[in-house]
Amino acid sequence: MSQVKRITPEAPFPESEIGCRTGYMYGTAWPLSETDYLCNYQNDIILLDAAGNKTMVYACDQAAQGFRAIDPIPVKRRATPPVIDAAPNPPKATVAVMNVYTSDFTWPPGTKVKWLRIIHYLPKTTNAPDSPRIGFGSQNAARMSLGVVPVEEDGSAYFEAPVGKCIYFQALDSQGMAIASMRSATYVHPGEQLSCVGCHENKWQAAQRSDAMALKRPPSRIQPEFTGHQSDPTQGGIPFNYHLLVKPVFNQKCIPCHTNQGKGFISSEYASLKPYAYFYNGGGDNTGSRATPGNFGAMASRMGKALLTPAHRERMAQGKFTQEDFRRIVMWLDCASDELGAYSAPDQQRDGKVVWPVLQVNSADPLGLKPLAADPAVKHGPERPVVLIRNSQP
Ligand code: HEC
Ligand code: HEC
Repeated sequence: MSQVKRITPEAPFPESEIGCRTGYMYGTAWPLSETDYLCNYQNDIILLDAAGNKTMVYACDQAAQGFRAIDPIPVKRRATPPVIDAAPNPPKATVAVMNVYTSDFTWPPGTKVKWLRIIHYLPKTTNAPDSPRIGFGSQNAARMSLGVVPVEEDGSAYFEAPVGKCIYFQALDSQGMAIASMRSATYVHPGEQLSCVGCHENKWQAAQRSDAMALKRPPSRIQPEFTGHQSDPTQGGIPFNYHLLVKPVFNQKCIPCHTNQGKGFISSEYASLKPYAYFYNGGGDNTGSRATPGNFGAMASRMGKALLTPAHRERMAQGKFTQEDFRRIVMWLDCASDELGAYSAPDQQRDGKVVWPVLQVNSADPLGLKPLAADPAVKHGPERPVVLIRNSQP
């Protein structure tokens, strides 16, 4: 907290100091200068100064008005801010991980990481929590796996990066099961050459010298883990939808045998799968900001454990279900066992229709690998000066 000056020490931080229940006191500050800010204080708009003095600007009677006064923005003429843009034709953005085994935790004995899975955590486009509910975990955001890239023998990886997306990584074993998962996310800008030490290194130690094998070859392309539900086989499970990707496997391959044999897991109805699934829950299971390596996702779930028993391996070897079926289920379990993959049209998604998420996703380039200029969603007004920020600039 040493960088932060608290100008309203009487107001505890929501969530970290009081929990969400007590309600918020201050919100949505709009700086007018270094020392004066417009903000809301409970339901009113106030002027706050750096010494913490409050001046009422607009008292809002919420009951009479039917709304709270929040998000104050001064309406006045001002200079159009410049568009800060990357160089016009940036090189391909890449990500390099020097050695996934460099970590501040202990990997389970005998761990061999074969792949990194790259997952797009989708920005929420509805305002209320759980509207619609994405899966078993409460207040979860939707996500979709963009695919996997190989990890070399020495733990290094180097790949073309999805640009402008909220992404996170999972370290997978040879069967495609997540051993470790990042629980926050990162972004790659156009042309950025992002490199990371490990998964993750101890921040109090100097980075090791690296002779990464992956950097001696061109960057890998992100590849699908399986064919997926799209006619285009390069798409894998994009966009994600339980009803399109996983349910048909359950219905066609798993449930007939279970029903015959009078065993458990005889329904593919989403709600009934909860005991077999893996998910994060606010205040419940699998909380905390770190996942336990080797005890995450499919590996930690009842269904994933069942699939790894000799009996089910034998059933797969006999062709009762395929590698593709296995990988679809594993990816689903590793990605919080969600039902929906977008915030809109939940009923259509439940009907097994393809529904694309609307923010940060271009359905013509869901991996975000094409040059930015080709993205019609990115428009720059001609009247705006463009400030070029290059790596060489301070
Ligand atoms: C699969 C292993 C793994 C890889 C590879 C990995 N991370 Fe992470 N990352 C983690 C874990 C575990 C955490 C800690 C839990 C959390 O905060 O999500 C973390 C946390 C983070 C955080 C938030 C906490 C912090 O230290 O600031 C950021 C940002 C981050 N990673 C960025 C990156 C970037 C950038 C890369 C490389 C391009 C990368 N990670 C590669 C596993 C990984
Ligand atoms: C040919 C028959 C057969 C097929 C196909 C089959 N199973 Fe099973 N499954 C069983 C039997 C029998 C059991 C009881 C335990 C055992 O023998 O493995 C079982 C048990 C289970 C359980 C319950 C474990 C528990 O904790 O109660 C799960 C979950 C499961 N199977 C998942 C699957 C999935 C997922 C598939 C499809 C990819 C599948 N099974 C395909 C026969 C089958």
